[in-house]
Amino acid sequence: MMILSLLLLASSALAAPSPADRSLFCNTPAYVPYNNAVLPNPFVFDNGAPVQSFADWDCRRSQISALIQGYEAGALPGRPPLVSSTFARSGYKANFTVTAGFPSGTISWTNTIAYPNTTAPGAGWPLVIAYDGLSIPIPPGVAVLTYPNSLIAEQNSSPASRGVGLFYDLYGNVSASSMTAWVWGVSRVIDALEESDTANFNLAKIAVTGCSRDGKGTLMAGAFETRIALTIPQESGSGGDTCWRLSKYEQDSGDVVQQATEIVQENVWFSTNFDNYVYNISELPYDHHFLAGMVAPRALLSYENTDVEWLSPLSAYGCMSAAHTIYEAMGIADHHGFVQVGNHSHCAFPSYLEDSLFAFFDRFLLDEPDTNTNYFSTNGVFNGTVWDPGYWIPWATPRFW
Ligand SMILES: *[C@@H]1O[C@H](CO)[C@@H](O)[C@H](O)[C@H]1NC(C)=O
Ligand SMILES: *[C@@H]1O[C@H](CO)[C@@H](O)[C@H](O)[C@H]1NC(C)=O
Ligand SMILES: *[C@@H]1O[C@H](CO)[C@@H](O)[C@H](O)[C@H]1NC(C)=O
Ligand SMILES: *[C@@H]1O[C@H](CO)[C@@H](O)[C@H](O)[C@H]1NC(C)=O
Ligand SMILES: *[C@@H]1O[C@H](CO)[C@@H](O)[C@H](O)[C@H]1NC(C)=O
Ligand SMILES: *[C@@H]1O[C@H](CO)[C@@H](O)[C@H](O)[C@H]1NC(C)=O
Repeated sequence: MMILSLLLLASSALAAPSPADRSLFCNTPAYVPYNNAVLPNPFVFDNGAPVQSFADWDCRRSQISALIQGYEAGALPGRPPLVSSTFARSGYKANFTVTAGFPSGTISWTNTIAYPNTTAPGAGWPLVIAYDGLSIPIPPGVAVLTYPNSLIAEQNSSPASRGVGLFYDLYGNVSASSMTAWVWGVSRVIDALEESDTANFNLAKIAVTGCSRDGKGTLMAGAFETRIALTIPQESGSGGDTCWRLSKYEQDSGDVVQQATEIVQENVWFSTNFDNYVYNISELPYDHHFLAGMVAPRALLSYENTDVEWLSPLSAYGCMSAAHTIYEAMGIADHHGFVQVGNHSHCAFPSYLEDSLFAFFDRFLLDEPDTNTNYFSTNGVFNGTVWDPGYWIPWATPRFW
């Protein structure tokens, strides 16, 4: 009997660890010594071991989450013990007020809802959460909840807005930046909807969107909140769907772009710890292709605008090309869209972009799973600066499936 159980122990020790066992061994430090000028390889763990399967990616994604919080976004607190809501509807409008916090104190904010004027589907309405306000068209049959993220964490200027907003009233001066504070609030909205379905949403069909600074926040929300099915950052530029290294390359090439050294002086979107790296971008053991990769396998569609030069056009295309390899590794490249055009003003949405937008809505929010969502394109207007994928993306893409 004793020998048998020893044999069993020995054989289970030799067998490959199950996904649950692996997660026990997944180390997720917030800091890793690193120095590399080109984009980091998403398909190696912090210790250099290869990432070869979906189970490996679960751990790798946890490592990336810890690094992004550690270096640039600040800590993202989890669900506090108290989350509740009140709901008041009048016609096609409603107010959804969320209260969250601790027995010692809570905060509350009101999100406004606009409902379609048709009959709700049996599973409830698909929902778009719009950071601060909506700047894309919404197809029929989708409700919109406007989330007042600037109330949660102020974003007027740096350093005056640092630590100002409802989130900081609750948590004090923690390392969370406005990016993580906003994600926290989105997660509490979804918690409150899960607890009380009076608003009648289909919680498996939630999208998030926002433009410019709120596009940066939108990508963070999609990366960290896995209950979001579709993430649509619009013209998010540096700090969003661009990579810090590539924005620096554009700046070094003579283009006038928003990049890390400027962004930390412009506003308080990132943690004060990020100040220590903006002149040492090569030391970041990640870049924003990892942030976009955290959204996978869920759907991600980003729009960029080459008419607004500070949006770092080459950086956005290069960074999302790098992120695309993560979707390719999963065999779902068409869950990741990128559309970069010019000829329109910042945060405008010309009607010819609706094909790609509505395709993603149809497939991921409106139960039309056969819709073609192969949209990945750029006009290549990079002010003469050259994009060299072989230099910036030196890794081979594994196949998880
Ligand atoms: C939502 O709240 C605002 C501000 O208090 C109020 O003016 C509006 O009537 C409310 N809307 C609904 C549908 O209750
Ligand atoms: C319903 O909303 C659509 C816009 O989404 C509008 O064109 C239409 O006139 C509205 N119908 C009614 C009955 O309010
Ligand atoms: C809040 O913390 C940051 C660093 O984490 C610091 O720079 C800032 O001065 C603090 N603000 C206040 C009001 O204590
Ligand atoms: C484009 O490149 C030229 C030459 O490097 C530079 O002078 C100009 O400022 C750049 N334009 C923009 C909008 O970045
Ligand atoms: C970080 O950047 C600063 C400013 O360019 C430089 O003086 C310093 O040597 C860099 N630190 C490291 C560790 O490379
Ligand atoms: C740019 O926009 C203008 C005004 O909407 C339009 O007339 C023109 O055809 C557009 N050009 C391109 C290249 O799309």
